[in-house]
Amino acid sequence: MHAPLIDPFARPITYLRVSVTDRCDFRCVYCMAEHMQFLPKADLLTLEELDRLCTAFIGLGVRKLRITGGEPLVRRGIMGFFRQVSRHLGQGLDELTLTTNGSQLARHAAELAGIGVRRVNVSLDTLDPDKFAAITRWGRLPQVLEGIHAATAAGLRVKINTVALKGVNDAELFDLVRWCGDEGHDLTFIEVMPMGDLGEEDRLDQYWPLSDLRAQLARRFTLTDLPERTGGPARYVRLEETGQKIGFITPLTHNFCESCNRVRVTCTGELFMCLGQEDNADLRAPLRASPDDRALRETIRAAIARKPKGHDFDYSRQSVGGQMTRHMSHTGG
Ligand code: GTP
Ligand code: 5AD
Ligand code: SF4
Repeated sequence: MHAPLIDPFARPITYLRVSVTDRCDFRCVYCMAEHMQFLPKADLLTLEELDRLCTAFIGLGVRKLRITGGEPLVRRGIMGFFRQVSRHLGQGLDELTLTTNGSQLARHAAELAGIGVRRVNVSLDTLDPDKFAAITRWGRLPQVLEGIHAATAAGLRVKINTVALKGVNDAELFDLVRWCGDEGHDLTFIEVMPMGDLGEEDRLDQYWPLSDLRAQLARRFTLTDLPERTGGPARYVRLEETGQKIGFITPLTHNFCESCNRVRVTCTGELFMCLGQEDNADLRAPLRASPDDRALRETIRAAIARKPKGHDFDYSRQSVGGQMTRHMSHTGG
């Protein structure tokens, strides 16, 4: 057993997010430009390398592993990878999970549940099929709903992630809350973050602060703040009238960096210490240089020693597009 990873602000790093592909079958307007240039396949870590990397992090004390993308389920062979890393469950790893757009979930939900995945986070910003097609540029809502049903039928808990978008889904707030209540899903709202150059799209126009969303909820429901955390950045309230739990991820209006416990690795092996900072470390080089993990572990430790205190997202500078050219799909959210 190796010494655990502790960053300079005494935060233990126990949560690793691994993006297994930068590709996606959707092109959500706030996430990707319509004509995204994807990475050449040769640049990607192989699934064996990704497994080695996850194993090294688990040896360094990571207890929660979330597979992201792009869309993780579009990577060929991904179920074999899930099966491989699931061997760590109960052997250091407490939770293996994924964040998905749901498009391929109908095919894979039962197998994911079978290998020990307990819950999945599914991105869903609207229940209106036309709006859904507009946000994702061509996604089909029924396909995603079918995936969500398959996940529930397989015994997976589903958390819906909804990016709050002014003028897009603000009128649907109560419909989304009611639907999640009826279906038994947790629901988390996310403030749209200024990441990636989206060309024509102007995110500042769509920015809907969750403080406002919360105030709208409070007009209809009695909200009780919940102390619990899931190890992620969300804060939760309970709607007393329905018993539902609603989460808020508010990087802009309420910074949660002081309790940050996570780092992320991209599909090319860059280790990002913060979603909202450019500093990263190359893990592909030590992975490929030697079958021994010593240099890899040293590179990880040296990077964690540089983990910054927090992110730099800020809408007040009115320069959203230009601030962070990296796309969310690159680091997996
Ligand atoms: P739970 O385990 O359910 O708490 O998941 P999670 O919230 O950690 O994971 P999920 O993939 O559902 O994350 C939802 C979104 O939260 C991500 O896509 C990001 O947009 C945002 N998010 C997650 N971690 C961070 C973080 O460290 N900083 C910022 N700014 N946003 C984050
Ligand atoms: N701001 C906030 N959330 C985003 N996501 C993608 N891009 C952004 C952004 N710029 C969300 C997706 C998904 C999660 C992985 O990240 O909707 O729920
Ligand atoms: Fe794909 Fe998710 Fe980005 Fe939408 S937000 S384009 S589903 S990676």
